[in-house]
Amino acid sequence: MNERILVVDDDGMSLRLLRRVFDKAGIESRCCQSGAAFRAWLEEGEVPDLFLLDVHMPDASGFDLLRLIQTDPVCRNVPVVFLTGDEDVKTETAGLHAGAADFIRKPFAAEVLLKRVRNTIELNRLHRDMAQEIRVKTERLARAYIQIVQALAASVDAKDKYTHGHSSRVAAYSREIARRAGFSEQELDSVYMMGLLHDVGKIGISDAIINKPGRLTDEEFAVIKTHPAVGAEILGKIDDLPELRLGAHWHHERWDGRGYPDGLKGEAIPEVARIIAVADTYDAMTSNRSYRALMPRERVRAEIERCSGSQFDPRFAAILLDMIDEDTDYTMREV
Ligand SMILES: [Fe+2]
Repeated sequence: MNERILVVDDDGMSLRLLRRVFDKAGIESRCCQSGAAFRAWLEEGEVPDLFLLDVHMPDASGFDLLRLIQTDPVCRNVPVVFLTGDEDVKTETAGLHAGAADFIRKPFAAEVLLKRVRNTIELNRLHRDMAQEIRVKTERLARAYIQIVQALAASVDAKDKYTHGHSSRVAAYSREIARRAGFSEQELDSVYMMGLLHDVGKIGISDAIINKPGRLTDEEFAVIKTHPAVGAEILGKIDDLPELRLGAHWHHERWDGRGYPDGLKGEAIPEVARIIAVADTYDAMTSNRSYRALMPRERVRAEIERCSGSQFDPRFAAILLDMIDEDTDYTMREV
């Protein structure tokens, strides 16, 4: 495809010369002879491969036009080359600092002009293609990351006959609580991941204990209570995401300090673990278990309210209570 260049120069002779050079080289060029003509052209919404701007014109300077281009929604990534009769190094330095890609002095040698213009266009294309490739690859990696975490969470849930979709629901409830608490988009993604992985330590607990109908013995309960530390150890191996283990490690801590594994109290418990704690208990009550069916909405609500300030951080319990109150059809449960 032919390169397309927009030239702005108030000197008619110079424009004619440039046009001849570009025509001969098979480059499409359009010319504007004033700042006003350029502004009108910009309104049309066309996108060239390069702008070639004279620095001094009666109604505008090349710098003014450069600023216009840089704020234009469709042309802002098109490279700008200045064309000038100035011998002044200061103008050249200022132009390059302002974001011009190159500076060509008049009078110019046609061959040098063409080479520099083509180099600038090629460099800009490479840069654009590379940025696009990085964007596509980054998005694909982010999707794969979520899917791997979801697969891991599903494999944890599959160990337990009675907790279908538990991790995904806890992740979704935790994300919503955090959203209402004012967390940023990036923090919400992180809360969601930690919610998905909060029970990953159950991978290390025997299926016989996890699926045992009826009450657990003290020894069995002691084994179950190791899952936060096991989860923290597993996730602690992911050096690049050190925060990922917070939910797994401390989601069984209590606001009053009577939880496990470390008996952390109040704000000493990471915020995300306090959020997951309330979401986790909510999902346990609103899911069917081997020993009982899911509980009625009013009883769940009363239980969350009763444990606010003892088991749960009152701030996050209050948010969950709001969510329960809005969920009049009781859709926030295992289906
Ligand atoms: Fe747990």
